[in-house]
Amino acid sequence: MTQRLTIRRPDDWHLHLRDGAMLAAVAPESARHFARAIIMPNLVPPVVTGAQAAAYRDRILSALPDGADFTPLMTLYLTEETDADDLAAAHASGLITAVKLYPAGATTNSASGVTDFDKVRPVLERMAEIGCPLCVHGEVTDPAVDIFDREAVFIDRVLDPIRSKTPGLRVVMEHITTKQGADYARSGGPDLGATITTHHLVINRNHILVGGIKPHYYCLPVAKREEHRKALVAAATSGDASFFLGTDSAPHTDPAKLQPCGCAGCFTAPNTLSILAEVFDREGALDQLEAFASLNGPAFYRLPANEARLTLTKGDPVQYPPQLETDDGPVTLFDPGYALHWAIQD
Ligand code: DOR
Ligand code: ZN
Repeated sequence: MTQRLTIRRPDDWHLHLRDGAMLAAVAPESARHFARAIIMPNLVPPVVTGAQAAAYRDRILSALPDGADFTPLMTLYLTEETDADDLAAAHASGLITAVKLYPAGATTNSASGVTDFDKVRPVLERMAEIGCPLCVHGEVTDPAVDIFDREAVFIDRVLDPIRSKTPGLRVVMEHITTKQGADYARSGGPDLGATITTHHLVINRNHILVGGIKPHYYCLPVAKREEHRKALVAAATSGDASFFLGTDSAPHTDPAKLQPCGCAGCFTAPNTLSILAEVFDREGALDQLEAFASLNGPAFYRLPANEARLTLTKGDPVQYPPQLETDDGPVTLFDPGYALHWAIQD
């Protein structure tokens, strides 16, 4: 008997759409299944002003297929020079939904990020006042801190102090990868949420390193030990409103990934929902998929859940093309390493 699951149309609360030829190729992939997405601003140069966000939104809308039902929710890239008035105006007009904090040097195109967190304090206070959420890439960049500890150390050294000094600031811990991240998010009350990616529900660090290095599993924050992956699966499948889907689908061309110093990022937009259904099914938690993918995110962002529905059906393994061709070069899809039985009805 075919098993079916109908859920409200999901949203992606953390997405990289890039620009130019890559944008043209990947935007339709997200628009096919997702109604809205929080669009990351780490372009080169980054999206730091309201005017840049408006222009980028227009480029995204032009890249969508005719009739697509997809709303890009724009963000600004926080720098030490961010103009709080420009930010507040962009938020008040509905142009931006959130602001993204990258510690300088933490990840792809983060060079313009924040080094001295005290310098952005006035902007964060303004955001708390106007109710604009801060999306945080939560890793310290201190070279003395081991890369596998950078998220846990960030919580103690940076995130917790920011939150206690800025009451009312609404914060999303982006792409958490540790038990410490999940525990902190769970205990943070209604002003704190956390996104979890598809790939961090599937891989641990062995997948990257055992039996040869796997560049397509390299992303930031890097996947941790199995006990952390299990903590993320427990959080995502629990139904707890603190946790929602942010795929962090981050396309790079194969030539950019397959380098002596390859780029970080997993491209999951096309097969995310099949993978999530498989993960939730294995946990006996299909009844929580809608909360994670379609309900908890809008509730945090104080937006209505989508009215449209999406149906998944379970059957023979579903094949996805291993690569997406773009005019910049091929982009390899994230391979969960197991068969996917849930197909998405378009
Ligand atoms: O793996 C990642 N890729 N992590 C990030 O934080 C950035 C992203 C990208 O933009 O490629
Ligand atoms: Zn990201």
